Formats: sequence, structure tokens, C-alpha cells
Amino acid sequence: MFITATAPAKVILFGEHAVVYGKPAIAVPVSGIRASASLDTHVPDGHGLRIIAPDLEPARDVDDALSLTARLVFDALGTPLPDANVVVQSQIPIASGLGSGAAVSTALARVLSAAVDCPLDLATLNALIYEVEKVHHGTPSGIDNTVIVYERPVYFVRECPIEHIAIGMPFTLVIADTGQRAPTRESVGDVRKLLETQPEQTQPILDSIAEIAEAARFAIETGNAVELGHLMSSNHQLLQKLTVSSTELDTLIKAAESAGALGAKLSGGGRGGNMVALVTPESAKTIAQALMDAGAYRVISTLVS
Ligand code: MEV
Repeated sequence: MFITATAPAKVILFGEHAVVYGKPAIAVPVSGIRASASLDTHVPDGHGLRIIAPDLEPARDVDDALSLTARLVFDALGTPLPDANVVVQSQIPIASGLGSGAAVSTALARVLSAAVDCPLDLATLNALIYEVEKVHHGTPSGIDNTVIVYERPVYFVRECPIEHIAIGMPFTLVIADTGQRAPTRESVGDVRKLLETQPEQTQPILDSIAEIAEAARFAIETGNAVELGHLMSSNHQLLQKLTVSSTELDTLIKAAESAGALGAKLSGGGRGGNMVALVTPESAKTIAQALMDAGAYRVISTLVS
């Protein structure tokens, strides 16, 4: 038997960091960039389950997350591990705000459960990947695993039922990578310190991010792209105040705005990784070029519909 399963990248449009503290956030899947897991049972008896991840960094937490994923899948299913090789690959750069950890674990869990003919339902898979996310991020909100497992735009509030957003009018995003890797765990930890040491300044920032996410949901549902763009740029200014932007992110965001983007912001943990710009279909190419000229490491466009 040879089977493959995949999972998409994600981009957070509103509310990162604040979402850790119970505020709403909005994220969409990026289906064009994916992680995959291919399982091959053509191995000798007693071979065991071997997970091979050639293009993921040989970081200990990647290994830990992959073996934890496998263990949780077989615990949930109550079946023994099959004899097989599994090759895990990803087009999603690690530590770049696009959900690489959750996507890799989701693809792996899917292929393992398919191999024993017990595909996991989405809610069980989501809960399982959330456990694995704790290895990567320490105190994840759960938004990354949710948008990746369901592969649908989501309005997410921690510990509340998942709400999928209806898209009033399709919109185009250009996503640009600074090429700098920045572990989410660190930026999340620094925001926590900020909240503990300067609560009077930090809490109002989180509250304002929440208001923006609420307004953004309405703009998405009613197809108001101009308003959505303004809200993205306002969200970015608040993320700067939370100290999670970087010179490179700010340079790319300015470049996108100067080239005509409706709005732009960092996406995910920040301090590096990716930024996202809202563009019109006609301006997407020009803005992508402006981002490359401004030093982006990689630029992709995606349609949210
Ligand atoms: C990471 O993709 C998003 C953060 O809000 C952390 C989290 O929600 O767990 C920074």
C-alpha cells in the first residue's frame, strides 16, 4: 500500500497574539502551499513505523512533534502501529507564521489513520493536533490547527465553538516571506511578559485588536475590501506596539502599501516570517514585484473565496 495525505498552510488575517488571551482572530487556509505525508507499507515484517522528514530541520522539537503525532493517533484509534515508512515533506517554510508545524502534523495524522482504515473525524483530528501544537508553541491558542484541519476561513475565539466565515466577495492576498525565521514560542512569550510587566499599556492594545477583528469579520462577510485593507494596516500598527514586528516586516509592509495594496500586516507570530497584503486581482503582480524588489525571499498570491 502507498498512500499520501496533505494539509494546507494558513495565514492569520487579524488577531494574532491577542487570540492567545481569548480575543477573536480570523485566519484563512492557503491551499496552494502544503505539507504532505506519504506512507509505504512495502517493508519487511517487524520493520516498525519509521517517520522520515528529509526537508524539515533536524530540530528536536520537529522529531518530538512527529513522534507525538503518531502516538496520539494510535492511542485515539486503539490500533497497533503498522510496519511502514512515512516520508513527511513540506512546501511551507518552518517558523515563518504559515502554520508549518500544524500542517505537517495534520498530514501525518491523516496518512496514519488512513493506513489503518480509520480516518479521524475533523473534530478529533483538530483536538489531537492541538496537543501536538503545544510541543511547538508552548501555549497555542488553537487557531493554527483549526484553520488547517478544517481548511476553511475561521473566526476563532479560544475555547468557543468554531465559527466558519462566509466570504461576501472573493479577495486576493499577496503573502511575502522576509526569509527570517522566528519561533512563535519566543514572540508569544515576550507578549506575555509585556502584559505582565506593563498591563495598563498592553491590555488596551489587545482590546483594540479584538475590536478590529470584529469589524473585519463584518467587512469580509459584506465584501468591503477597502475597509478590510484599512483594518489590516491598523492591526499591524498595534502589532508593532506589541513589539512583534521587525525592520524587514515593516519594509515589506511599506513597499506593499506604496505599490497600491489596500492594506498589509505581519501574519502569525511576527519578528520575521511572513507579511500579508490585501490587493486587487489587477494589482497583484505589481505588488508582488514591489515586494521582491524590497527584499522579499518568496512571494505567493492566493484567492480567498
Ligand atoms: C501563531 O500562528 C499565532 C499566535 O497568535 C499564537 C497562537 O495563536 O497560538 C501568535
